[in-house]
Amino acid sequence: MGSLDGRVVLITGAGRGIGREEALYFAGEGAKVVVNDPGVAIDGSGGDTGVAAAVVEEITARGGQAVANTDSVTDWEGARRMVETAVDTFGDLHVLINNATIERNRGMADLSEEDFDVVVAVKLKGTFAVTRWAARYWRERHAAGERVDRAVINTSSGSGLLNPLPAQSSYAAGNAGVAAMTTVGALELGRYGVRVNCISPSMARTRLTLEVPGMSEKPADGFDPLSPAASAPVAAYLASAGCPLTGQVLSVRAGSVAVNHPWSRGDRVHKDGLWTVEELAEAMKGVSVDDPFDKLAQALGGALGTTGHAQIQEMIDALLDGGSSEG
Ligand SMILES: NC(=O)c1ccc[n+]([C@@H]2O[C@H](COP(=O)([O-])OP(=O)(O)OC[C@H]3O[C@@H](n4cnc5c(N)ncnc54)[C@H](O)[C@@H]3O)[C@@H](O)[C@H]2O)c1
Repeated sequence: MGSLDGRVVLITGAGRGIGREEALYFAGEGAKVVVNDPGVAIDGSGGDTGVAAAVVEEITARGGQAVANTDSVTDWEGARRMVETAVDTFGDLHVLINNATIERNRGMADLSEEDFDVVVAVKLKGTFAVTRWAARYWRERHAAGERVDRAVINTSSGSGLLNPLPAQSSYAAGNAGVAAMTTVGALELGRYGVRVNCISPSMARTRLTLEVPGMSEKPADGFDPLSPAASAPVAAYLASAGCPLTGQVLSVRAGSVAVNHPWSRGDRVHKDGLWTVEELAEAMKGVSVDDPFDKLAQALGGALGTTGHAQIQEMIDALLDGGSSEG
């Protein structure tokens, strides 16, 4: 008996990295998996239908059940077809994992309109598009009298939640939007028996992170803290019928799982009536605010040994001066 026996699961971007690990893990736990992936490059260009097919082959070779779908999450009709593939092949859809992403990392002064649009189209609109078609299907099933636990698991990133990174304005904005949409989904879809949660992986060795210093070194044996497999059991917990959680964003780094409390309110100043600019300037001197450079240094200090405002500034200068263009 697996923890996901009989659950039908659609995973977007499941051909590589974290999504592939989730597909293998879920199938091993008894789920029937739709492996979605058009097999594009990191920047979203090209495509390779063999990427999803290879994961399906791996699953079936181990005795599991899976089917490939190579539509893009940016294609409205393609998103509908993914849901149909699950229902037509396996008779239902219980779990949707929105995992697909691309990246085009450039400073704001260099990022083109197209660079911004395509990243947000995959990360944010793609998450909405597939969820929307799943929600329609689930609403119908609920109206027909079915009472079954269903789950959406979105995928966000520290770059968007805790530490938006320089050169990632589109990726960070998309990920922050995914976390916000998780709350909306939990509030709206609960009445159809759908729980909506989000994982935020961190420092997982995939093609997106291989160039970060230290990420490509794999321990010869034993526990690998950078393994892209770390998210799979957390996603499986959120996908399992007995899980009580909804509306949560869980950060995952190796064996650590943390509940996030997004954008909580901090210090406050108050006056009965409207402020003048001078009064507010004076009152704000006593308010504690986060310095984004210090916050990022704190986060990277643990992972990469980068500490202090000056080191972060050097990192940003190197990043932005490396790929700048006029126009
Ligand atoms: N690797 C990390 O450390 C890390 C950190 C934070 C968040 N994440 C998130 O985890 C998720 C997986 O990232 P990864 O590191 O495994 O990346 P990856 O590049 O290894 O895998 C992403 C997959 O998504 C697919 N994809 C791209 N565009 C698509 C589209 N339009 N439709 C369907 N599939 C598409 C790609 O072909 C690729 O196989 C992403 O949502 C990412 O933002 C990863």
